[in-house]
Amino acid sequence: MSETKKTDADVTAAPDEREILLKVEGLQKHFPIRKGVLQRQVGAVKAVDGIDFEVRKGETLGVVGESGCGKSTMGRVITRLQEPTGGSIHFEGQDITRLNAAGMRPLRRDIQMIFQDPYGSLNPRHTIGGIVSAPFRLQDVEPEGGVKKEVQRLLELVGLSPEHFNRYPHEFSGGQRQRIGIARALALKPKLVVADEPVSALDVSIQAQVVNLMDDLQEELGLTYVIIAHDLSVVRHVSDRIAVMYLGKIVELADRTALYEAPMHPYTKALMSAVPVPDPKRRGAKSERILLRGDVPSPISPPSGCRFHTRCWKATEICRTTEPQLIELRPGQRVACHHPENFEDQAPQDTVLLSVAKEAASLVAEEVLAESAATSAAVAAEVEGSQEAEPSETSAEKPAAEATADAEATSAKTGPGARTAPATGVQEAKDDGQESTDE
Ligand SMILES: Nc1ncnc2c1ncn2[C@@H]1O[C@H](COP(=O)(O)OP(=O)(O)OP(=O)(O)O)[C@@H](O)[C@H]1O
Ligand code: SF4
Ligand SMILES: [Mg+2]
Repeated sequence: MSETKKTDADVTAAPDEREILLKVEGLQKHFPIRKGVLQRQVGAVKAVDGIDFEVRKGETLGVVGESGCGKSTMGRVITRLQEPTGGSIHFEGQDITRLNAAGMRPLRRDIQMIFQDPYGSLNPRHTIGGIVSAPFRLQDVEPEGGVKKEVQRLLELVGLSPEHFNRYPHEFSGGQRQRIGIARALALKPKLVVADEPVSALDVSIQAQVVNLMDDLQEELGLTYVIIAHDLSVVRHVSDRIAVMYLGKIVELADRTALYEAPMHPYTKALMSAVPVPDPKRRGAKSERILLRGDVPSPISPPSGCRFHTRCWKATEICRTTEPQLIELRPGQRVACHHPENFEDQAPQDTVLLSVAKEAASLVAEEVLAESAATSAAVAAEVEGSQEAEPSETSAEKPAAEATADAEATSAKTGPGARTAPATGVQEAKDDGQESTDE
């Protein structure tokens, strides 16, 4: 993913002022679980569980998260390939949440999807010409100059030869097949393209080519993209903004630069630490990876409070009991976290780590914990200074657990830093009867 073209200048071209193309509010998709002869509903897979975001004209919104976080479901619901369970979807100001097939038909031209699997998504019995011309047939559209000429133009546009018109998918490589999928998606000049892991099935060497092709086409055709990926390496250079999903929720949504320079959600930070750094000079600097414990929990019964609390190295009692809302902590940066990174603690009174957090912290490098404490403490100090407020922590206010922590830990404490200490790694809170009853 090193050869990409979007520069910071593109991104700073006042994206906030761009017109909103798609607006999603409180979107939910629950898949019912049924049992018995009567097929009674006994539960639900909460694949998407209340998400809000907007996509502006001409931008690329990257959506990232581990497997099972609900990214594909979100993509299928916003393109109305699946029915939402709750919430609303507006496209160009029109409420499309409940439009039936006939109502959606004209919009099918405007909203297209590119799928992950370039092998399974092309019918092996159809020629390339047949595949790319299908949208014209389905929508009853006769392009200027005829279908064949237009398909050949599209094939050229995506870097294939017009001669490929009569060939079959099996004659093409993965990268070429994905180009065919892109040509098909672009046939009707869509306004919004949702690409679900468009390159993850391809060789790493081909991935950059396909991503760059999408980037070029965006510029040429004025496209708006939602690009879904399970890690940040694919979307980091091409996205204007990035939404990070965890277990059916958006946990952070920010401009690309803000997200990279100062991620606020611990999960974002973990995902970022897993991205290989292509610049060999910086390789050493980013070698401290944050390992996450276990898999994403089941979306059938997500953890209480913050869904990330079972894997987060900063989790305290409030994380277990109270769901953090996605709020704009900095302009253009929305985060759902009680103890964000690179920002003032949102629940500074809550300082005792859950025992799961201590276990999680044991997988996080000391350097990362120290950095986490330092960045948040620096922001807190800045805020305190500017408000001329009293120190937020006096020894009288400190919980007993903190008061017993070693001196080195105490000296490093401010805000979220109170929960971690560079030398000892994690504050212990065992003997004071205050340890939380986390699961
Ligand atoms: N049709 C369905 N019926 C029941 N459960 C489903 C259905 N589709 C998806 N799910 C469940 O919803 C959750 C989210 O799935 P989804 O495919 O959206 O995740 P994802 O983030 O795209 O993951 P991946 O990175 O593996 O593609 C998963 O637990 C999945 O098993
Ligand atoms: S600190 Fe708490 S709220 Fe923030 S991500 Fe961790 S568990 Fe969630
Ligand atoms: Mg998926």
